[in-house]
Amino acid sequence: MCGIFGCVLKEGNAAPLIHASLKRLEYRGYDSVGIATISEGKIYIKKDQGKIDDVHKILNLDDLPGNIGIGHTRWATHGAPLKVNAHPHTDCTGEIVVVHNGIIENFIELKNELQNLGHNFVSKTDTEVMAHLIEETLKQNPKLTFTQAVLDSLKRVEGSYAFAIISTREPDKIVCARNESPLVLGINHQGVFCASDIPAFLAITNKAVMVNNGELAILTAQGYEIRKISDNTPITREPITIEWTPEMAVKQGYPHFMIKEIHEQPETLRNTLRMQEHYLDLLTTFLDRANEVFLVACGTSYHACLAASYMFSKLAFLPTFPVYASEFVEQCGKSVSIDSTILAVSQSGETADTIAAVTCAQQRAATILSLTNVIGSTLTRISRVYIGTQAGPEIGVAATKTFTSQLSVLAQLALKLAKKRGKVSQDEIDSLEENLQKLPDLAETIVNTQEEKIKQIAKKYADSKVFFFLGRGISTATAFEGRLKLMEIAYIPSIAFPAGESKHGPISLVENGFPVVFVCPKDECHKTLIGNIMEMKARGAHIIAVIEEGDQEIKGLADDYIEVPKGIPSVLSPIPFAVPLQLLAYYTALEKGFNPDMPRNLAKSVTVK
Ligand code: AGP
Repeated sequence: MCGIFGCVLKEGNAAPLIHASLKRLEYRGYDSVGIATISEGKIYIKKDQGKIDDVHKILNLDDLPGNIGIGHTRWATHGAPLKVNAHPHTDCTGEIVVVHNGIIENFIELKNELQNLGHNFVSKTDTEVMAHLIEETLKQNPKLTFTQAVLDSLKRVEGSYAFAIISTREPDKIVCARNESPLVLGINHQGVFCASDIPAFLAITNKAVMVNNGELAILTAQGYEIRKISDNTPITREPITIEWTPEMAVKQGYPHFMIKEIHEQPETLRNTLRMQEHYLDLLTTFLDRANEVFLVACGTSYHACLAASYMFSKLAFLPTFPVYASEFVEQCGKSVSIDSTILAVSQSGETADTIAAVTCAQQRAATILSLTNVIGSTLTRISRVYIGTQAGPEIGVAATKTFTSQLSVLAQLALKLAKKRGKVSQDEIDSLEENLQKLPDLAETIVNTQEEKIKQIAKKYADSKVFFFLGRGISTATAFEGRLKLMEIAYIPSIAFPAGESKHGPISLVENGFPVVFVCPKDECHKTLIGNIMEMKARGAHIIAVIEEGDQEIKGLADDYIEVPKGIPSVLSPIPFAVPLQLLAYYTALEKGFNPDMPRNLAKSVTVK
C-alpha cells in the first residue's frame, strides 16, 4: 500500500502542496518518497529512500518549479526501499513520469518484452514498466495523444493500480487511472488534485470525485474529465461533499485503525495472491532441501507458524517445528546447525526476540528464510531469502490483516512444496488453489454478514471474567489467535489449548455461564470436537461456536454461533475463521470502553527482549 498524489494548479508552485499532501498519506507507506514537476517543458524530480521529513531535510521537497506535479510515499513491495526504487519512475527519455500504488502482476513479462525492444530499466520495481510501456506505445504510434497512449498501455497491464502520470509531451495535464487500488479526485479554486485517499487534500477541499475501477481521469487546471478505460467513453460524475474530519479521513471514516484493517482483509488477501512466483519458488526450493525446519516467531506471528506447521505436514509431508522466538536460543540453540533451516515470521521484521533467535541460528550456519510485512526491515537484511506479505502498513497494535496475509503466503508455500514433492493429487491441488482464490471474497462475506451478530455476542459476554478458546487440529492455532486478540485489547483473561486437552486439567475451571469459544470448521476433527462441546456443556459452559454455515449439529448445541461460508478446506480454515474472532475482540473492547488501537502496556513492534 503506497500513497500517490498529483495536482494541477491555476497558479503557484505544485511542489509544496504535493509535499504537504504526501505527509497526510504517510500512514499508507513511509520507506521512500519522491516528487516530480513540470516547468517550461522540463521535468524536475527529487526522490530518496527514507521518511518524508528526513528526505525533505536533505533535498527540500518544496523546491521544485512548476504548477503541475505528482508525488509518492512508498511501502515497498517490489524492490527494496532504495533511492533507485523510490517513485516517481521515468521512461528512457525522461519525458514520461509515473507514480503508482498497487501490484502489476505481469510486470516481469512486460519488462522482458520492453528490454528486448531496447528499453533500459534502472529500478527493480513493477511501476517502472508503465513509463516504458507508454514510451513504446508512442514510439510505435507517434500520432496518438498522450491520453490515448496511456489508455492503450493500460490494456496490457494486469493487476491492481492507481497511476498518476505526467509528460512533457502534454505538460498541462495529469492522466490518472484506477483498478482496485483507491483513487479519488479533489477540486477547489486553486486547481484539481488526485490522491490515493481523501486525507491527502481534505485540509484544502472537501469536494471529492470518486474514480471507480476501470476508469481514467484527465486533470487540467480547468477541471477534470473521466473516461472508461475499456472504450474511452466519457463518464459524467459530480463532486460530493466529504463530511469527515481530517482525523476520521485517515481512518477512511472508520472509528479505529483496527476495524479499518479488519475490513481491509479482502483487499490485502487479494494482494497476497499476487506474490512474485519467483520468490515463492525460491523459498519452496530451500524448504524442500531442508533437513529440519524451525518456524520462529512471537505472538500472532507465532500462531501463523503454528497453523503453518499443520499446512506443511498435511500438504507437503514436511515436519516443521514452531518455536517461540523468545525461547528459541534456550530450547533449540545448541541443536541448530548448518543442516537447519529457519523460517522466521514477523510482520514488523524488527521484533527483538525474533531477530535474536535468527542471529543465533545464523551464527551456527543455519539457512535463514523469512516472511515479513516490512521490506527493508532488519529481518530482511539478515535473511538469505525473504518474501513480503504485501498487507500495507498495519497501524493498529493488534495484528489482524498481517496475520491473515501471513497465513495466505504460508499456505501458498505449503501448496507449492506439496506440488514439488508430488504429495497431493492434481485434483486436490486444483481444489486448494481454487479455494485460495476464494478467500478474499469469503473474508468480505463474513464481515458483511456476521459483524452485527458479533457485536451482540460481544455485548452479551463483555463482562465475563475469563474465556476459553478451543479448537482441534489446525484450528488450535486459530483458537490461540482468537484468545490473544481478546486478551490484548479487551483485557479479559483468556485461555486457549487444544480441545482434547480439556479433560487433562483446564476443564476444572468450568462452571455455570463460563464462555467457551469453539473454532469448528467441518473438517476431520468435527466429530470429536462435538464431544468436547458436549463435555463443556455438561458443566454449564456457554458455547460460542464459529461454524460453517448450515452446521445444524453444532448450531443445536451452541448458545451463540457465528457462521462462515462453507466448503473451506481445513488447511485454509484459519484465514476465514480468524476474522470473526478479530471482530469479537474489537467489539468486546468497545463494549468495555477501551481504545482497540492503543492497548495498554503494548507496542506495535516489540524491539526489546
Ligand atoms: C499481535 O496482535 C501482537 N501485537 C503481538 O503479539 C505481535 O504479533 C508480536 O509482537 C510479533 O510481532 P511481529 O509479527 O512484528 O514480529
